[in-house]
Amino acid sequence: MIQVKDRKFIFLWDIFIALLATYAAIEIPYSMVVHFAPNAVVISLNWLVTLSFIADIYVRYRSIVYLNKNSEHKTVKNKYPLGWLAIDVLSAIPFDLIPFLGFLRILRLLKVLRVVSFRATWLYRINFNPVIVRLSFFSYFLALCAHNISCIWLYLRIPYDKMEAASHNVDMVNEYVKALYWSITTITTIGYGDITPDKKNNLELIFTMCIQILGAGAYGYIIGNIANMLTNIDMAKARHQERVDRMNRFMKLKKIPQKLQEQVYQYYNYLWETRRGYNDATILAELPESFQFEFSMLLNKSIIEKVPLFKGAEPSLVREVIFKLKPVIFIPGDAICTFGEIGEKMYFINKGTVEVVSHDGKQVYAILREGDFFGEIALLLKQPRNATIRAVNYCDLYSLDKDSFDAVISHYPAFEKNIKNLAHERMRAFAVDH
Ligand code: CMP
Repeated sequence: MIQVKDRKFIFLWDIFIALLATYAAIEIPYSMVVHFAPNAVVISLNWLVTLSFIADIYVRYRSIVYLNKNSEHKTVKNKYPLGWLAIDVLSAIPFDLIPFLGFLRILRLLKVLRVVSFRATWLYRINFNPVIVRLSFFSYFLALCAHNISCIWLYLRIPYDKMEAASHNVDMVNEYVKALYWSITTITTIGYGDITPDKKNNLELIFTMCIQILGAGAYGYIIGNIANMLTNIDMAKARHQERVDRMNRFMKLKKIPQKLQEQVYQYYNYLWETRRGYNDATILAELPESFQFEFSMLLNKSIIEKVPLFKGAEPSLVREVIFKLKPVIFIPGDAICTFGEIGEKMYFINKGTVEVVSHDGKQVYAILREGDFFGEIALLLKQPRNATIRAVNYCDLYSLDKDSFDAVISHYPAFEKNIKNLAHERMRAFAVDH
């Protein structure tokens, strides 16, 4: 018995069904119009479609049971929505094997609606820009529409050309490409007029008018949507640029020195390069606390892996620290801690390099890099900072405030012992240097 165990399987199955539905939506209208003799590949594929669509009804049912297994609402549980059940059943029936009902296999096209329903899941599953995913879906449906319109056009034309086709052995692929050309030029309202309906054929004339009306409506819709989607692709960049422009105008108005302006500009650049316009804290604030915790664990995981102090630490300690870490950025030359100041925070280096320097900045005692920490001595010994810490380049740090630090060391004596030993080592080195 198939166990639909996880969402990954459902996601992969969705892709498989979408591919088969697309194949059916291309093959069925074409073969109904062109009446070609199916070869072994087409016959096998058609069987694969039939069997997979039947299996899909079962998988869908199992996935509904699985996905709703934690649902509180009894009414939601195990219900196969009637509309979808009808669509899945109708598209699974092999009408081509039933005498006189072969034409009903066009109902298999209904399965394409399933692809629409996958869109929401794919939007968060696929690691692409959501606007690009939407644009791809949009192009996909447009292409299928154009194909189906071409097939109808071909169907309307063939009865008139049939005689000729028989006598001159007309190349049907070429006929199809011409029909596709007609449907695309008509949908996009370009209409060169080189392929036109037979003025004596009312059906062709009416169909052309319908597609023209549809095309005019769709064209406005398409252009509007594409323009909108394209602007949205770089919305984050545009928003960031707006912030930079506003800051630029502000600095000019307040006559901030050119050098400082340049530094601010570089800081914004760094923000864009490393964070793409997102601020972790604001994004996390939108989520319920349980998610905030999980997100913090994931976002701050790398720093915990980098800091040797946390290697082998109890998982509960790591969890407590991770939740309290706050990301901060310093620009080159910034004094992160200043000699003699009261210490309110300690820092962990995620990216960048800092120098431990004397109060006048002339003597460099040590260089600290990714995975190192500093600022712990003032917190541990409740004394002023014993050195100045200067950012050498852009520094991505995580800060831990005094209260959180005190809470952590009071809960975990082994951690306190470790950090104290390291602090004493540093102080000894510091004393030797003096
Ligand atoms: P704190 O005194 O709070 O602020 C300055 C920090 O510089 C100090 O904590 C230590 O974290 C760090 N520091 C001082 N001396 C050294 C050293 N010799 N090597 C590495 N780091 C040091």
